[in-house]
Amino acid sequence: MYTFNREEYEKRIQWYKDARFGMFIHWGLYAIPARGEWMRHFEEMPSDEYDKYMDEFTAKDCDIRQWVHLAKEAGMKYVVFTAKHHDGFCLFDTKYTDFNSMNAPCRRDFVKEFTDAVRAEGLKVGIYYSIIDWRHPDYPHYGDEIHPMRNNKSETNENRDFDRYLDFMHSQVRELMTNYGKIDLLFFDYSYDGMRGEKWKASQLVTMVRELQPGILINNRLEAGGRGFGSLVTKNPLPYHGDYVTPEQIVPPDGIKDELGNPVLWESCITMNRHWGYFAGDRYFKTPSMLIHKLVECVSKGGNMILNIGPDAYGNIPQEEVDILKYFAHWMKKNGESIYGCGNAGMDKPDFGRVTRKGNIYYFHVFENAVGALPIQGIDRKRIRRIRALESGHEVHVVTHFNYSDYPDVVFADLGEDPVLPDPVDYVLKVEVSD
Ligand code: GLC
Repeated sequence: MYTFNREEYEKRIQWYKDARFGMFIHWGLYAIPARGEWMRHFEEMPSDEYDKYMDEFTAKDCDIRQWVHLAKEAGMKYVVFTAKHHDGFCLFDTKYTDFNSMNAPCRRDFVKEFTDAVRAEGLKVGIYYSIIDWRHPDYPHYGDEIHPMRNNKSETNENRDFDRYLDFMHSQVRELMTNYGKIDLLFFDYSYDGMRGEKWKASQLVTMVRELQPGILINNRLEAGGRGFGSLVTKNPLPYHGDYVTPEQIVPPDGIKDELGNPVLWESCITMNRHWGYFAGDRYFKTPSMLIHKLVECVSKGGNMILNIGPDAYGNIPQEEVDILKYFAHWMKKNGESIYGCGNAGMDKPDFGRVTRKGNIYYFHVFENAVGALPIQGIDRKRIRRIRALESGHEVHVVTHFNYSDYPDVVFADLGEDPVLPDPVDYVLKVEVSD
């Protein structure tokens, strides 16, 4: 039986701390109705009505290698793909249910294509697996908190055998941990109400996963969901503790710390628009500028950001999402050094933007220019060895004109005559200090 070991844990998580930036991919049958992956819940849609979509699942334009290449170009270091969402439709060749993509017109194992594509790009492989399964006959229906049939008195639970459901669920996880090579991340989703921890036989499940995939990182959703931290933040993490916390659609205001005040691993899970799965009417996309600022914010608070794409029914990524990824590619090529392996700089947030840090290097992210020279605070000016513009490497001078002489403790960086920054989204200054 797996038990938490701090030393082993700290080794296992290092690549993830350095990675800082990942891609989430939500794709499945729900892309056909195009009302998001929770549409069965909101519309209380019966299974036999939803199953019909399977006949149309041709995935005719789906090229997972192209999706993953966009992630690589955008500077993402890991990719997490929905092998099965709450709807129960499996995008992999499972022998435990016929409700899978091998039996749809596409006849493809998308998890196989995905894991091959991610490794080919040299990125880390993540699998999302829903421990909730609205289609399985032994999963609670009537009276459950979220099941599509939760209000349907005819869908009572007398003849449902939850242990039989758990055998099914554990067997599918075993398939995913056995048949697709090295898996680096397992994103379970999610615990709620009384459905949490050992209700899922979580210790047994985690022990099996870690035996099959010794270096794997597992998220905290056998204990929690998009809210709640789980036992990772306690003095004695449980056997099924998450290796990282997964705040959803939020950047934790002060990062996340454990009971002893030590930072814990976390990633903000964020969509580009307002939905994870493809939603035809949702054109409310965040701007590239906002999302770059959110990535910087996560890193400045000691966390990661996983950014979602939701391909449409045929497997095409919406153009707005492609455009956002291409903007990240442009910015990360110049400034990735201020993200990867960086973290909390241990200083107040400057008025003009944010600060990330890696060892004796501070990266000042300038989102808005100052009037005159830029005030660099939080570092003893005697410790500053050099200041460079990260994107070009050119030297940035410190100014000492008369009008700055009243603030001797503040270093004023001369960003030039033009009030418009060379990168109006986030212009990064690399400040090297002596030890
Ligand atoms: C929430 C959503 C689920 C999504 C997940 C991603 O649990 O309900 O649909 O897959 O967040 O973090």
